[in-house]
Amino acid sequence: MSTYILMKILESTPSRYDSGIRILTLGRLDRVYNRLTSHIKRGQRVLDLGCGTGALTLYAAQKDAKVKGIDINSQMLEIAKKRISEANLSHRIDLYEMGVAELGSEESESYDVVMSGLCFSELSEDEIIYTLREAKRILKPRGLVLIADEVTPKSLSKRLINWLIKFPLVIFTHLITQTTTNTVKNLPEKINKAGFLIDSIKLNKIENFIELVGKKP
Ligand SMILES: C[S@@+](CC[C@H](N)C(=O)[O-])C[C@H]1O[C@@H](n2cnc3c(N)ncnc32)[C@H](O)[C@@H]1O
Repeated sequence: MSTYILMKILESTPSRYDSGIRILTLGRLDRVYNRLTSHIKRGQRVLDLGCGTGALTLYAAQKDAKVKGIDINSQMLEIAKKRISEANLSHRIDLYEMGVAELGSEESESYDVVMSGLCFSELSEDEIIYTLREAKRILKPRGLVLIADEVTPKSLSKRLINWLIKFPLVIFTHLITQTTTNTVKNLPEKINKAGFLIDSIKLNKIENFIELVGKKP
């Protein structure tokens, strides 16, 4: 899944993001999001960090949850709004142009689930630590944190394979967008450090993509 680096190019043309990501991931991301949101129960309050065009948001709303999606990219949010309206789910989803840095404005213990798909890899180390700390604060006791994202493999050989696949894509993406994504380092350790217990972790074969379920004690 090293091709996720190319999502930065897709984000620069939000209208092509959804079809592009589907081609890049051969539909795998849909299966990941379906699995991740299977932990959400009817009527729960869910916060989607970096909701983009609403892919994960829609899965959660289909579970009859009340979802708030936040993102800093207004064009991605415009497309999310359209998709949500086409799916007749506007009554279950509120979208806000807002960054993770503003999570301090959310009420403590007000969500059952805080989730994120492919957003942590766009955050700095400090933002990741801050976001996880805030996620813990705003979650109710026994609330869940659900994350799907690109991670740095633990083993040296897998890190090397990952780097070899990714390097040309990083250069290509940087030439077009002047930005890049970072694979998230030591996510399980960061989750523990923020005070969560880990419920489950699923890694792909080359260990560069994680699906993580954490729980607030
Ligand atoms: C690769 S997209 C994924 C979007 C969506 N979650 C999905 O799976 O289709 C990452 C999203 O994170 C958003 N993002 C990046 N930094 C952010 C921040 N600091 N706060 C909130 N959203 C952010 C981007 O604008 C982008 O829409």
